[in-house]
Amino acid sequence: MNNLMNNFVKSQNYWNAAFYENQHNFVWQYGADLLQLLNPQPGELILDLGCGTGQLTEKIAQLGANIRGIDSAVTMIEKARQNYPHLPFDVADARNFLVEQPLDAVFSNAALHWIKPPETATRCIYQALKPGGRFVAEFGGKGNISAIITALYLGLTANGISQPQILNPWYFPSIGEYVTILEAQGFDVIYATLFNRPTPLSETEAGLANWIRMFANDFFIGLSSEQKTQVIYEVENSLQEQLYHQGIWTIDYRRIRIIAIRI
Ligand code: BEZ
Repeated sequence: MNNLMNNFVKSQNYWNAAFYENQHNFVWQYGADLLQLLNPQPGELILDLGCGTGQLTEKIAQLGANIRGIDSAVTMIEKARQNYPHLPFDVADARNFLVEQPLDAVFSNAALHWIKPPETATRCIYQALKPGGRFVAEFGGKGNISAIITALYLGLTANGISQPQILNPWYFPSIGEYVTILEAQGFDVIYATLFNRPTPLSETEAGLANWIRMFANDFFIGLSSEQKTQVIYEVENSLQEQLYHQGIWTIDYRRIRIIAIRI
């Protein structure tokens, strides 16, 4: 699986890889049991789509698979290469990538909720797999972080952004919606589940503010840093009762998990 060809690279290189790695490591810690669904076998050709800084890519490699990681963020790929210099990583976009050799599996953790429209990714994934190859993924599902989104919309509206929903970068589908897309693409969906995963953030008071600064930057484009701080302050205030207990913020993650086979 050499020479993964990338036709179009979206540069999300504003991602702060060190901040991600140090303070948001739950992203791959929770993803570890997704590996059981993938069940990688020695020698299999596998792509880790949206690999971030490479921790799960490395775990799949340790199980003997021939793995390659891709991510659209240059900073994430640079950090993944530093972390695991023995593994292949490329900057490539889930909406528009090609592989030279058909794959046994495409794996993706906590990445596909950034991809709109979703069909762009499911088409590339389908084309990358051999017949019988599997697509195993987890990402945010319907209702994911709904309390945070509601509070962000309120805070932004109160600070002069009239249609904050236009700025929402995320796609959180229901099972029905996503399975329909996969089936239209030609996949046979053999497993789909949607479940709540309340996720405590590791830092204390600053946990939610740091999460917003890491992941929700699209909402603040065009605002000054003072306005951003003010919106975050208002979001914290409105969510305190619901999500902040005993000094820990627990965010309202809701995950969708899928196994789909290329027919
Ligand atoms: C998630 O993993 O569900 C997620 C992460 C960052 C932004 C939005 C959702």
